[in-house]
Amino acid sequence: MYVLETRHATTDSLPLPHARIEKPGHPPLLQIYSNQLIPLRKLQRNLSGKIRKLVLRPSTPFQLRIARRLLITSDHRIVQTKDRQLPRLKIRAGPAFGSGDHATTHLCLRYLSHFLSAHHQTPTTVLDLGCGSGVLTLAAAKLGARAIGWDNDPTAVSESQRNAKLNRLTHRVHFEVKDALRAALPSANLIVANLYDSLLLHLLPRLEKHRRSGATLILSGILQGQETQILRASRKLGWKLQRRGRRGRWFCLQFFG
Ligand SMILES: C[S@@+](CC[C@H](N)C(=O)[O-])C[C@H]1O[C@@H](n2cnc3c(N)ncnc32)[C@H](O)[C@@H]1O
Repeated sequence: MYVLETRHATTDSLPLPHARIEKPGHPPLLQIYSNQLIPLRKLQRNLSGKIRKLVLRPSTPFQLRIARRLLITSDHRIVQTKDRQLPRLKIRAGPAFGSGDHATTHLCLRYLSHFLSAHHQTPTTVLDLGCGSGVLTLAAAKLGARAIGWDNDPTAVSESQRNAKLNRLTHRVHFEVKDALRAALPSANLIVANLYDSLLLHLLPRLEKHRRSGATLILSGILQGQETQILRASRKLGWKLQRRGRRGRWFCLQFFG
C-alpha cells in the first residue's frame, strides 16, 4: 500500500464531498491511498507531494471478550484457558481497520452482542456500513444473525472475505464494495455504522425506510464534542435514543425507529 501526501492541493479543486480540514488555518494535508504506485505517480504530477510506501507492522496479539458471549482474537494461541469454551472469532491483523480492540469497534461489539442476545428468538439481519476487516459483520454472524457488510474500499472487502473464510462464516455473511452514501441500502433490523461524524450526518437521512420499519441503529466513531450534533440530527429525523456509551473520548449511540 502506498500513500501520496500533498499540502499543495486544496480540497475546493477536488471532487471530495467528505473531505474536511483538521486544523483550520493550516494548509490541508491530502492523503491518497492506493495499492498501486503508477496511478499515484500520475496524480503526483498534477498535485506534487510525496509518495510513501506503508509498512505494515505486526500488531500485538490481542484477545477481547464481549460480554461472555464472544471472544475475538488475532491469535488463538494466546486465548486463556477460562475463555476456551467461548465462541471465537479470529481476526487477522491485516490492512483494514477493525481488529476489535479500537474503542469505537469495542463499543459496537458490546451493543451488537447485547441486541442479538435480547432478540435471539427473532431472525435478524444486520447491515454493517463501513465493515473494514469485517469484524462487526462476522461477530453478528457468529452470534446467530445474517449479516451484510459494505465498504467503499475494495481492500477492506477482500480482507472481510478473507476473515469470513478464516472463521468458516461465508454462508452467513455477504460482503460488497459499496458506498454507503450512494447505493440503495438493503433492509435490516439492525444497522451498525462505525464511521466518522460527517459521514454519519450524511448517512442518517438515507435510513428513513429502516427507521419506519422499526430498525435499531448503532452509530460509532463519534468523538467527544461531536455527539450533540449527531443526537440533534437523529432526533430531528425521528430516531429515539436507547443507549449512549463512551470509551475514552469515543462515543457510541444506539437508537430505535
Ligand atoms: C472506522 S472503520 C470501521 C471498521 C469496522 N466496521 C470496525 O468497526 O472496526 C470505517 C470503515 O468505513 C469505510 N468507509 C468510509 N466511508 C465509506 C462509505 N462512504 N461507504 C462505505 N464504507 C465507507 C472505510 O473504508 C473503513 O473501512
